[in-house]
Amino acid sequence: MPANACTLLLIAITFISVVSFMPWPRSIQSARHHVRSDAAVPVELFVMSKCPDKVFCENVFSQVLDEVQVPVSLDVNYIAKANQSEEYQYECKHGPSECLGNIQELCFKHVYPDYHQWFEFDLCLNEKYESIGNGDGLAEDCAGQLGLSFARVKDCIESGKGVELLGESVKRTQSLGVEKSCTVYIDNRLRCIHDGTWKDCDGGYEVEDFVKSIEDAYQG
Ligand SMILES: *[C@@H]1O[C@H](CO)[C@@H](O)[C@H](O)[C@H]1NC(C)=O
Repeated sequence: MPANACTLLLIAITFISVVSFMPWPRSIQSARHHVRSDAAVPVELFVMSKCPDKVFCENVFSQVLDEVQVPVSLDVNYIAKANQSEEYQYECKHGPSECLGNIQELCFKHVYPDYHQWFEFDLCLNEKYESIGNGDGLAEDCAGQLGLSFARVKDCIESGKGVELLGESVKRTQSLGVEKSCTVYIDNRLRCIHDGTWKDCDGGYEVEDFVKSIEDAYQG
């Protein structure tokens, strides 16, 4: 092989390695926009961890977050019902494994509060959403894929902190009277619901429509 072909190949390999190991391209992007982070627009999703509508909704908001040009404070809260006789002290529509899934996602968010980390974890779980909460295997794999330690997340899940976080999350959901997964709030207002299909979405439900709502809220 001629020397300059080798050089090109080396440059290409180096480029691909660097790009594929860059952990958080979005955080670089958002750092540029975090000039007025105190005014970040709240975006909240209310979900059940094993619900297909949650998977759909979070995929849409993953694109929204990629496109939006203003700071966002993302949160995800959970729909469940307190019941002391249940395994995790809460009743979840898709069974106890969904309660564990909610707890895994909440504990991950607790340990890694930057949404560029915890939301990627949720999106990773979603790829095998039917296996969410069938033990910790999937959650550990996803933490590994993100290059983040699962140890403190596991401590949170097993210590009772997890159930406490679920309680706070459910309280937030119930305070707004939210019952459907997935319900979307933007700037503290009900914006849209995905329950089989999109419903109650004045302002539209395309990625660009959500981006516009967030950017309009930021402009005030
Ligand atoms: C609480 O859970 C138990 C066990 O699954 C069930 O039998 C009971 O009906 C539930 N209670 C309420 C108020 O839903």
